[in-house]
Amino acid sequence: MTAGSREKQVTDGVLSQFVLHLHPKRVPEETLRFTLSFGLGGISLTLLVLLGISGAMQLMSYEPTVQHAHDSVRAMYGDSNISGWFRNIHYWSSNLLIVSMGLHLLRVLCTDALTGGRRLNWVVGTFMLLLVLLICFTGYLLPWSQLSYWAVTIFINMAGYIPVVGEVLTAPFRTGGTAVEVGQGTLSTFFVLHTGWLPLTLSALVLLHIWLIRKAGGLVTKDAESRNRRVAVKPALIVREAAVGLVATALIFLLASFFDAPAGEPAMVGVSPNPVKAAWYFMGVQEMLIHFHPVFAVCVFPALTCIAFISLPFWQQRLESPGTWFGGRRGRKLALVAAIGGAFAATILVAYDAIGGLDGNGTEVPAMALVSRGWFSLVLLGVGLGAGFLLLTRKKHYLKGEVILAAWMAVFAWMVTLTITGIWFRGPGMQLLFPS
Ligand code: HEM
Repeated sequence: MTAGSREKQVTDGVLSQFVLHLHPKRVPEETLRFTLSFGLGGISLTLLVLLGISGAMQLMSYEPTVQHAHDSVRAMYGDSNISGWFRNIHYWSSNLLIVSMGLHLLRVLCTDALTGGRRLNWVVGTFMLLLVLLICFTGYLLPWSQLSYWAVTIFINMAGYIPVVGEVLTAPFRTGGTAVEVGQGTLSTFFVLHTGWLPLTLSALVLLHIWLIRKAGGLVTKDAESRNRRVAVKPALIVREAAVGLVATALIFLLASFFDAPAGEPAMVGVSPNPVKAAWYFMGVQEMLIHFHPVFAVCVFPALTCIAFISLPFWQQRLESPGTWFGGRRGRKLALVAAIGGAFAATILVAYDAIGGLDGNGTEVPAMALVSRGWFSLVLLGVGLGAGFLLLTRKKHYLKGEVILAAWMAVFAWMVTLTITGIWFRGPGMQLLFPS
């Protein structure tokens, strides 16, 4: 045996031992079914690895100063510079990670994989979600383009609406010389957070996440009988995971080779584009600002949703058949109706405000708006949810778990509709427009 092949054998051994250590020795056969998870956790993991590698490669060209950041990004696309390709990989992986992670948490929720021994993992997952959003957000500023500069400015101004602490929380990020400006201090802080602290924390949580899956004995299953029907992880699961990882990597490589990440114009402090839009994954919240009082749009509603979301495993009721999407046909139908209802309610709200809103011409007195666009909506939502829950569980005999799940589907559909409206149907002055 040559020295080279011996070295390869040792490396392969270490790698496969590491991969095997992340799994239990045997997993329930039922969990190999692709339609249980659609490989979404594995896809998210692959995208995270690609993000780490492509981010490190860009550090060789990027300069985190307001004078040179934008030029250094543009220079990545110069002749014989491969950094541009890595930038494209980074761009596509980060955007698709938000989509795959969102779908992954939906699948966990819809297959009832968050109760019992998986409660802690849901909480860990929620923190991972927040960290990924923070990483994407801090990275958004780094190209120092008009788009990124103003999107971050908008977000920081939105956070400033949080009562009492908003100003204090956002002050460290307004370092451009005036009270509202984003500047060199903001860029340096975002750079350190984006390339250091946040990815480090996320990596630790990812390891914990995977260890907790292992501790739970693999993915969720229908019942004790299917839990006992087990197969060896190698090769059954490993081959499937490798296939999902390779397909995701190939897709990202293809996208990165044919579609460049936008570099845009360099940031112009004081000259804002019209409209100024937040990053697409925050467009739902920006759209809420158009329809609700700012304190409710950026503070009360998001805070209540976060609390309800993170504590969900502690009050969600089990579905009749865990590991089956929506617990079965009845649950699926109810969830579909709820999702259509959520999307419909958001569309009505957008249309209603486009034709004048509560007072007929869209100019409400701020104090009135706090009641009409804040408290009133909150009470209406509370009463609607309570009445719907009682009607469906008492009169229609749905399981409590099915109704709670359906309510979440309505919330998701509501947010997706507002996000789509914000991205594609808002023009100058955030007026409602049809894309031309
Ligand atoms: C960077 C983001 C994430 C990565 C890389 C990741 C990775 C994974 C992987 C590889 C699995 C096992 C395979 C699969 O279910 O597809 C899994 C399962 C799980 N994930 Fe995630 N995840 C992420 C985010 C989240 C989020 C945001 C949540 C919830 C808020 C979550 C909750 C869970 C739970 C509860 C399980 C166990 C599911 C079961 O036992 O059936 N994860 N995750």
